[in-house]
Amino acid sequence: MSKARVLVVYYSRSGVTAHAAKALANRLGADLEDIVERSDRSGPLGFVRSIIDVLRERPARINAAKHDPSSYELVVIATPVWAHRVATPMRTWLTAYRARLPKVAFLCTFGGSGAEQALGQLADISGRSALARCQIDARDVRDGAQVRLLEIFAARLERKLAHVDALEWEC
Ligand SMILES: Cc1cc2nc3c(=O)[nH]c(=O)nc-3n(C[C@H](O)[C@H](O)[C@H](O)COP(=O)(O)O)c2cc1C
Repeated sequence: MSKARVLVVYYSRSGVTAHAAKALANRLGADLEDIVERSDRSGPLGFVRSIIDVLRERPARINAAKHDPSSYELVVIATPVWAHRVATPMRTWLTAYRARLPKVAFLCTFGGSGAEQALGQLADISGRSALARCQIDARDVRDGAQVRLLEIFAARLERKLAHVDALEWEC
């Protein structure tokens, strides 16, 4: 059984969020949950369908989670931004598992604008405010500049977890 305190849950259509989520999980010694859809979103048709789905808030057909979020101290939720919103498969996962969430942190990747709105939506859907939030431009992931941002984010999460430990020790 895993001893990890942190679970990084991600959805990624084209690999950018997956890259950032894997690097973060590696840095934190976290377990990884990849949200897998039962339908194909590749190509231009997949792009158009994704826009329609996200605007209409249609649920996605996703596989059951492999990790139980409630058995971790912190779940980091990582999603791409779609139409200034949380990507549809992540919305579906959050809606299904929000009652089982412990403390949360949010990470989003984006191509130009809308990251703040998507981060706000993550808080609304999960019903939680984040211990920390991070937004990463997809171009930074492609050229490696995300490493510093992820390090700052990871260090902040470690400080927050240490603070929680200290509070529990006092009680
Ligand atoms: C359907 C769709 C809608 C998108 N909408 C936005 C958007 O509103 N704002 C933005 O900055 N990027 C937008 N993007 C770009 C993605 O957020 C960005 O490329 C992201 O890093 C992709 O992550 P992934 O490779 O993990 O899927 C959109 C991408 C897709 C596929």
